[in-house]
Amino acid sequence: MSERDELAADVAEYGRYLGRLTQLGAPAIPSLAPKSVSVAAAAPQAAPAGSEDLEGIRAFIGDCQRCKLAKTRKNIVFGQGNPHAALMFVGEAPGADEDEQGLAFVGRAGQLLTDIIEKGLKLKRADVFIANVLKCRPPGNRNPEPDEIESCQPFLERQIAAIRPKVLVGLGKFAGQWLCKTAEPISRIRGKLADYDGIKVMPTYHPAYLLRNPAAKKEVWEDMKIVMEILRA
Ligand code: URA
Repeated sequence: MSERDELAADVAEYGRYLGRLTQLGAPAIPSLAPKSVSVAAAAPQAAPAGSEDLEGIRAFIGDCQRCKLAKTRKNIVFGQGNPHAALMFVGEAPGADEDEQGLAFVGRAGQLLTDIIEKGLKLKRADVFIANVLKCRPPGNRNPEPDEIESCQPFLERQIAAIRPKVLVGLGKFAGQWLCKTAEPISRIRGKLADYDGIKVMPTYHPAYLLRNPAAKKEVWEDMKIVMEILRA
């Protein structure tokens, strides 16, 4: 094995270890991958659906420097939950709390998402998987930019291919549009089932929007009833 291959194998192994820790709920730990070594070079660029696990995807992400968010983030927020979940939520991007802890949806919006899952859907939060379109926090929680969404796209694609949930719930405009491959406003696409690679998609309002507009909870509840029907079928 060449020195380069040996180093790539070590980086991949460390990434798998980090992924395992993150799945177990540990706060994210910065990768030791040297900035000059391309982790992408150590992993295949495209993986067929279901051919890799979440630890491998975490290794593929490594200490990502692929977009400008790497300069301002504290932690990469990979997402967490059941790797075999029937239900997967996709949000927009980490906020301040998520960036601090390295975990998705742990702030105020996350508390509301927990209520939707546990009080509404009657599931345990640990039974679902929660991820975001972007794995790094945009400064000041600004909207994700197109180049950032494009850089992060392979990670979410691979996560979905590995988990293969029965239903994907897209939370808010960016996740809804990404999953439905549309530029239509969330107000127009929410509540209508769409398809992502053979998986049912329910776009709905983002919990942060619900914190500002509690009246919209009624519509999210309508959307969640459809999700429950699919999960029971
Ligand atoms: N908002 C999101 O879209 N994702 C998070 O993880 C937290 C807040």
